[in-house]
Amino acid sequence: MEQETHSPTVSVFGLGYVGSVTAACLAERGCSVIGCDVQPAKVEQINQGEAPISEPGLDELMAAQVSAGRLRATADAAEAVRASAISLVCVGTPSTASGALDLRFVEAVAGEIASAVAEKDGTHAVVFRSTMLPGSTRGMAERFFGELIAAGKVEVFFFPEFLRQGTALADFRDPSLSAIGVREEAVSVESIAAILDEGAEPMPLESAELLKYACNAFHATKVSFANEIGRIGKALGIDSTRVMAQLCRDQRLNISPYYLRPGTPFGGSCLPKDVSALSLQARALNVFSPTIDSLLESNRRHLESLIERVEAVGARDVLLLGLAFKAGTDDLRGSAMVELVASLLMKDFSVRIHDPDVAPRNLVGANQRFAAAKLPALETLLVEDLAGALDRHPQTIVASKPCASIETLKASLGEGHHVIDVNGWADLAEVAPSYEGLCW
Ligand SMILES: NC(=O)c1ccc[n+]([C@@H]2O[C@H](COP(=O)([O-])OP(=O)(O)OC[C@H]3O[C@@H](n4cnc5c(N)ncnc54)[C@H](O)[C@@H]3O)[C@@H](O)[C@H]2O)c1
Repeated sequence: MEQETHSPTVSVFGLGYVGSVTAACLAERGCSVIGCDVQPAKVEQINQGEAPISEPGLDELMAAQVSAGRLRATADAAEAVRASAISLVCVGTPSTASGALDLRFVEAVAGEIASAVAEKDGTHAVVFRSTMLPGSTRGMAERFFGELIAAGKVEVFFFPEFLRQGTALADFRDPSLSAIGVREEAVSVESIAAILDEGAEPMPLESAELLKYACNAFHATKVSFANEIGRIGKALGIDSTRVMAQLCRDQRLNISPYYLRPGTPFGGSCLPKDVSALSLQARALNVFSPTIDSLLESNRRHLESLIERVEAVGARDVLLLGLAFKAGTDDLRGSAMVELVASLLMKDFSVRIHDPDVAPRNLVGANQRFAAAKLPALETLLVEDLAGALDRHPQTIVASKPCASIETLKASLGEGHHVIDVNGWADLAEVAPSYEGLCW
């Protein structure tokens, strides 16, 4: 890409909430910026130093940057491309009538940029910032820029935008998160990171696209969850604002990365029963709480996906590493792995289990009753000698919790062993001859 590290020229396509903030803030950073929009009124406003949208601080910033000569606008896409080395695409990606993603505006801009780049000398970077589903940027790169990329004239990136309206300037200057999607690992992000954010994490295009959706879905989940707790609390005469404020004080389990890693279905003696009780109480109160109600169903689907993975491998012998719901405990109540074994036995798989924490003779009370009801033949399924249990080929090894040493596994795993890692067991991928993560 053209290296203009001191004062790069940037064109910004789409001068709405994202584009006009981006254009003004990049000019503030010293870039020479040309904005482009199909709405002549917006172009005119910017050229007069006025913000085309209402955002605190933007009017003043835009006026200063336009009068300093670092920011102007045009309705002519070719002119914007000619005047820049980097194009940022910030046009809208609305929903179609059915709720699907509408890429019409992004495609129109991509076509305009591609035609203009083909006519100009030098290289050009195209950075999509509009929110788009995984695969969209690569699809567009191939469709509009394939030949230009092959000729080394264009590189395409996806740089998700995380600013919030109302605090957009502060968010742009100090983003809460910053990632840059690249087509191939070898592609250099320097020219883009230099103007947008030095600290941006490079990742595959599709990962950066999914990251934006994951963030928004997570935010929506948080809001819906808090509102459901609010409605249940109100129906019970409880001050839920106070309850949620306390919930947020726990920064070890609640507001933290804990419980946010794709992996095992939830289980144990508390989560399934407590979610179920809360959901039923909401129903009894006539409070509609679909987010909370959906949790057990979502968990069940996740377990089903594991069963489907095991079936897809094709081996009839299955060895489960770890039966209890987490390491260091023999608590089988609500363990998703108990359900897995019961389902696989019903489907005529030959299942054996290695879990040094579980000794059927030591199980007592509700734990013993649960195991007896779900897996009456548990004692006959357990194997102590892991190396011996790995003598069958082909065999699927479902690794649920790290209950064996990596050295033992390395020595015993071989041809015909396929490992399905349920919970992200460190180093397992390196020692398994054939490996897949349940959901990664
Ligand atoms: N608004 C936000 O807070 C926010 C935050 C993060 C990400 N996003 C994402 O950023 C993208 C833009 O959102 P927005 O809120 O700024 O949209 P917006 O509707 O405010 O602005 C889009 C602009 O694109 C212009 N446009 C359409 N076709 C064009 C073309 N062919 N050439 C030039 N300009 C064209 C429109 O005239 C409009 O001014 C969307 O994908 C959105 O999901 C928005």
